[in-house]
Amino acid sequence: MNGEIPNNVDLDHDPQLRRALATWHPRFLQWWNEVGPDSFDTSTVYLRTAISASADGWANYAYVKMPEYRWGIFLAPPESRKIGFGDHPDAEPWQQVPGEFRKELRRIIVTQGDTEPASVEQQRHLGKTAPSLYDLRNLFQVNVEEARHLWAMAYLLHRFFGRDGREEAEELLTRRSGHRDHPRILSAFNAPIRDWLDFFCFAMFTDRDGKYQLESLSESGFDPLSRTTRFMLTEEAHHMFVGETGVQRVVQRTADLMKQSGRADLHALGGIALAVIQKYINLWCSESLDLFGAEDSSNAAAYFAAGLKGRHHEHAANAYREHRALEGDYELRLPGGAVERIALRRAMNAILRDAYVQDCQRGLARWNRELAARGLDQRLALPRVEFNRKVGACAGALCDPQGNVLTAEEFAARLGEWLPTAEDRARNAELMRPVYEPGKVAGWIAPPAKGINGQSLDFEYVILS
Ligand SMILES: [Fe+2]
Ligand SMILES: [Fe+2]
Repeated sequence: MNGEIPNNVDLDHDPQLRRALATWHPRFLQWWNEVGPDSFDTSTVYLRTAISASADGWANYAYVKMPEYRWGIFLAPPESRKIGFGDHPDAEPWQQVPGEFRKELRRIIVTQGDTEPASVEQQRHLGKTAPSLYDLRNLFQVNVEEARHLWAMAYLLHRFFGRDGREEAEELLTRRSGHRDHPRILSAFNAPIRDWLDFFCFAMFTDRDGKYQLESLSESGFDPLSRTTRFMLTEEAHHMFVGETGVQRVVQRTADLMKQSGRADLHALGGIALAVIQKYINLWCSESLDLFGAEDSSNAAAYFAAGLKGRHHEHAANAYREHRALEGDYELRLPGGAVERIALRRAMNAILRDAYVQDCQRGLARWNRELAARGLDQRLALPRVEFNRKVGACAGALCDPQGNVLTAEEFAARLGEWLPTAEDRARNAELMRPVYEPGKVAGWIAPPAKGINGQSLDFEYVILS
């Protein structure tokens, strides 16, 4: 069986790991068949597959049927490095799990691992309403890669955590997104992704949280985790691309229709109103902010002190003055404007989140250029971190997306201005009829700027059957 699993972890010479995977692999396929993409098992998809960790090995393009995709186990090449932050910055990274941090590391890996299959489950039905074969292919690329990320985390659990690791790897296949009795661990991964605007916003905002979590884990003193996440980041870049350009193309189409018609309500013209796009941004941005956890966190401090989880780009030139983070503090703005000071180490979640928000802002600026280029005055904006939060200092605050504190009545009365309503969703569902003809694109979204891997736009990215 191991001949079928592309890997650079010497699986051939690791009988224990092979035995563990021999049980897990068929369970994984069963999971994919049960809750992976619905209805496209026999279609042939133009997908990239990682076959090695070398510069050209991770992006091999070919037509594949998804259930036959060759999910593999890849670690980025080893680097000579020190742990580099926390209480023992000069220590060598660990090649095995240190006994004293076993529980914490397992928890970190399980929490990350749980998000990967969750997103596949959330996106299960989208193929049936894809705006083009190009988009359909991108959706499936994201799906198979998230499933490979699940493999990456299951590998760490099987290889380094013995029996309880095997049990956790099994649980990763058992929990279900949105399930009442055994849901996924984090809230955003239980939220339904009902339509393609949800999907693009999810890939923009929620996958980007994933990127930031992976970046901070790639700093980890546990070297196999660092190398695994570094390789995952090469794939994650495409997910960000799908999200950011997806929303951008919706904005382009919307802006064109606004300019042509002089109207804001575009439904009768086959477009999505800018105000509705803004509501989806508010929803997925705020859900994703919750994923960073509480701003003041003793867990985050402990992970940093131990060298388990660093900051974003802990070692980039000029990123941080020093790597122990024992001095100084973080200024946390509370709803209403009061400021709380948090010791730096306890504020690691907030520091990571701030880097994330800045990154999101860059995407927003690109979307807004589409509006400016057409001479329109309207702009999209990120909601303030006080809006629609369930986790941390702003949890339950009654703030609008600009951060103003409202009364309960005002807040309830106006929520439909800020988050998608049932009517917004019904109207989007009406527009989102599938377009499966090569080169054709649905009317609510602009065509992409270019094809995948140098292919033309009318390339048959998915051969339906
Ligand atoms: Fe992922
Ligand atoms: Fe992703």
